[in-house]
Amino acid sequence: ASTLGAAAAQSGRYFGTAIAASRLGDSTYTTIAGREFNMVTAENEMKPDATEPQRGQFTFSAGDQIYNWATQRGMKVRGHTLAWHAQQPGWMQSLGGSSLRQAMIDHINGVMAHYKGKLAAWDVVNEAFNEDGSRRQSNLQGTGNDWIEVAFRTARNADPSAKLCYNDYNIENWSYGKTQGVYRMIQDFRSRGVPIDCVGLQTHFTGGSSLPSNFQTTLSSFAALGVDVALTEVDVTNASTTQYAGLTQACMNVPRCIGITVWGVRDSDSWRSSESPLLFDGGGNKKAAYTSVLNAL
Ligand code: XIL
Repeated sequence: ASTLGAAAAQSGRYFGTAIAASRLGDSTYTTIAGREFNMVTAENEMKPDATEPQRGQFTFSAGDQIYNWATQRGMKVRGHTLAWHAQQPGWMQSLGGSSLRQAMIDHINGVMAHYKGKLAAWDVVNEAFNEDGSRRQSNLQGTGNDWIEVAFRTARNADPSAKLCYNDYNIENWSYGKTQGVYRMIQDFRSRGVPIDCVGLQTHFTGGSSLPSNFQTTLSSFAALGVDVALTEVDVTNASTTQYAGLTQACMNVPRCIGITVWGVRDSDSWRSSESPLLFDGGGNKKAAYTSVLNAL
């Protein structure tokens, strides 16, 4: 196959990218994205600050622009994200306790109702753990330790057709505290019947040329709990070809690793643009890392 999406599809997987609505008028950008990928994540447009800027007033125009662009081209869409400590609208940042708990539930219901039956998956909860594996302190955590399972139960009821994912960064290294903390939560949810279908490993790699230790073991260990895994926001400092090939190979080696998403199209589109971490350069040319990924799919 000659594109990332078609190559991934040969093994039943997808290859996706983050898309920014503000770039959909750039034809170099849309030409590459439309050609190479078969899954899309909105980079910012489906986050709480974008979708519920005032309490109870939902706006989906930018998210819908991305959804329509993708689905008109036969691509699927992952929803990102419903409950997160960051990118909350101002009104939500100042809430706590039972009123924040209710606001979170209302937010999940409001956004998921709009996209009901349309999205492949939702990152229901994003980045809820500290590096040592304890829970991150946030206004959401302050509503009670059960806020994550409340979010997942609410999400399942709101749209039973969407796969429900927990998503985080620095959970790639199996011997890392945060990985173990997330693993124990997924294990607990599975044993108690809390609805969860997938774990998203953001895979923002910084520095070095090798993969985090036992990356494939992490993927297979999560999968052994009965959930799918996906690499959801991949970017790699200086687009190390060894790391890009290795992360792709690790996913390919784990049957329940269902797909890979890079966090942007060209280096110039990246939130880490100074590190040139993506598969296309600023001019839209394929980089060496592109070939290393394509060859590993
Ligand atoms: C980033 C976007 O790429 C930026 O445009 C924005 O300013 C901040 O958020 N983890 C996530 C993503 O889950 O939503 C973040 O995206 C990157 C880190």
